[in-house]
Amino acid sequence: MSTKDERPVALVTGGGSGVGASCAQHLAKAGHRIALVGRTRTRLDETDRLIGTDSQLIIADLSRPEDCRRVVREVLEVQGRVDVLVNNAGFATQAGISETSEELMRTALDTNLLGPMCLISELWNHFTERGTGCVVNISSLASSDPFPGFLAYAASKSGLDSLGRSIIAERPVPGIRAFTINLAAVETDMLRSMFDHGVVPPEACLQPGEVADFVMECIRGAHDDRQGESIVLMRS
Ligand SMILES: NC(=O)c1ccc[n+]([C@@H]2O[C@H](COP(=O)([O-])OP(=O)(O)OC[C@H]3O[C@@H](n4cnc5c(N)ncnc54)[C@H](OP(=O)(O)O)[C@@H]3O)[C@@H](O)[C@H]2O)c1
Repeated sequence: MSTKDERPVALVTGGGSGVGASCAQHLAKAGHRIALVGRTRTRLDETDRLIGTDSQLIIADLSRPEDCRRVVREVLEVQGRVDVLVNNAGFATQAGISETSEELMRTALDTNLLGPMCLISELWNHFTERGTGCVVNISSLASSDPFPGFLAYAASKSGLDSLGRSIIAERPVPGIRAFTINLAAVETDMLRSMFDHGVVPPEACLQPGEVADFVMECIRGAHDDRQGESIVLMRS
């Protein structure tokens, strides 16, 4: 990969599965160079294989700020620029309020909120110097319409929604853009690790590709009037 390559660069977290893998494929098809981040090498390899181009694969635990700093450093070193950040990596588990341990609270907050915040913070000077950059935060309907058993998850995703508003409030130029997507059920491993077909039937779910289509619309500018808003996306 060469930094002389003029194609835009997309950094996709949690790119080894589900929504992230689909976003990475759509972005590559639209002409982006791709940097994929996750903790599991084999998953990133599989997305790389599906994309079929030479993605940059970065093994990192985004709940750790030092890993977030390394991710941004490595992408800028190899690619020379970042045009799109898709904050998609996420952690969810179901636990009643009284069963929600401090460890669970910290894992949810560190993965779903601290990680995206660190990545945005690390990229901010790059975005402001170039006067351009698009952040897409993959949030959840749980942030605005919480359901039982997701105290930590809903709190962390509410915080994520706030990041989009802060970017819009602080950006020096309109070329820096931010979108927050509040997803309802999407047919992925994360959903099925918690809800079987009896609780959430497949026909009630979005497909990852439909989410990726909407992410691409945001990046292309079709929803610029909804920046900073918590945009609900669900099966109609
Ligand atoms: N599926 C739904 O119904 C639904 C609904 C609302 C919102 N969402 C949101 O959509 C996003 C994508 O989820 P998904 O449904 O596509 O589930 P998924 O397939 O389980 O994807 C989650 C991805 O995040 C990565 N990840 C998790 N913790 C990480 C960490 N600490 N550091 C780096 N990567 C990490 C995972 O890879 P590794 O484990 O290999 O690191 C995995 O690739 C999440 O933010 C989720 O909260 C999903």
